[in-house]
Amino acid sequence: MSDEISRKLESKIDKKLISKSKRKHLEDGFKKGKVVNEVLDKPTVMTLYKMITDHIIAYVNGSVSAGKESVLFWGVDEKDVSVALKIYLVSTSNFKKRKPYILGDPRFSKLKRGTKNLVYLWAKKEFRNLSQCYDAGIPVPKPIYVKNNILAMDFVGQNGSPAKLLLNSEVYEDDYEQAISLIKDLYNKAKLVHGDFSEYNIFKTENGLIVFDLGSAVDLRHPNTQEFLKRDINNITRFFNKRGIPVEDTNTLFEDIVK
Ligand SMILES: Nc1ncnc2c1ncn2[C@@H]1O[C@H](COP(=O)(O)OP(=O)(O)OP(=O)(O)O)[C@@H](O)[C@H]1O
Ligand SMILES: [Mg+2]
Repeated sequence: MSDEISRKLESKIDKKLISKSKRKHLEDGFKKGKVVNEVLDKPTVMTLYKMITDHIIAYVNGSVSAGKESVLFWGVDEKDVSVALKIYLVSTSNFKKRKPYILGDPRFSKLKRGTKNLVYLWAKKEFRNLSQCYDAGIPVPKPIYVKNNILAMDFVGQNGSPAKLLLNSEVYEDDYEQAISLIKDLYNKAKLVHGDFSEYNIFKTENGLIVFDLGSAVDLRHPNTQEFLKRDINNITRFFNKRGIPVEDTNTLFEDIVK
C-alpha cells in the first residue's frame, strides 16, 4: 500500500479516536489524542487495514481501556456486531524515549526487531490459549483472529462497555464455586494453567463468570505449572475470603486438581 493511503487512513482513525477520547477519558499515562500515536504506529495501522479488507471488522469505534502492555479497542464488524481488539504495544511510550539511545548503537541493532517478534508471538500465544479453552467449552471470549500484535475476540459487554469485572461485582458462594471450576476445567480440559487468574481477569455476567487475559497461560508441560497453579488458587481464594465467602483449604484444592 502506498504511503499516501496509509497516511490518510491513519489520520482518519486519528480523528475518530480523538473525537471519542473527548467523550471518554483514558487511563493515566495517556494524553488525550496522543494515545493514537503511541499505540497505532504505522505497522499496527496496516494490520487494522488488513483486518478491514479481510472483513474481520468494518471499522474501529474507539478505545476501551489502556493498560501497560496492551490497549483494548472497540471494533465493529459488517453485521454491526462488536469485536474486542486487543492491541499489544510494540513500542511503549517508555521505550520510545529510550529509542534514540539504542538506535544507532550497533550492539542493539537487532533489538527492535526482537521486541516486535516477541510481542507478535505473545498475541499468537493468547489466541491459541483462548482457542484451546473455547474448544474445551470453557467460558472465554470467543477468539476470532490474530495478526501481528492484534487479537480479535468476541466483545463481552454492551455498546463498547465491557462487562463488570469480578472485582467490581457483588459476589456469592456460587461465584466462588464457578471460579474454582474454571481453574479445574482449565487444568483438566484445556490442559492449561492461567498464570494470572484473579478478580481483574474475570467478568461476571448474567450468564456466569467468563475468564479472559490468557496471554500468560501455560501448557501443563511447562516446568512452572505447579507453582503457577498454586498462585492462581491462592489469589482467587484470598479475594473470596476477603469478601466473606467461605473458602476451601488451598492445599486440598491443589491436590484435588492435580490428582
Ligand atoms: N473480550 C473483551 N470484551 C470486552 N472487554 C474486554 C475484553 N477483553 C478485555 N477487555 C477489557 O480490557 C481490559 C484489559 O484487558 P486484559 O486484562 O486482557 O489486558 P491487560 O494486558 O491485562 O491489561 P491491563 O494492563 O489493563 O491489566 C479488561 O479489564 C476489560 O475491561
Ligand atoms: Mg488483565
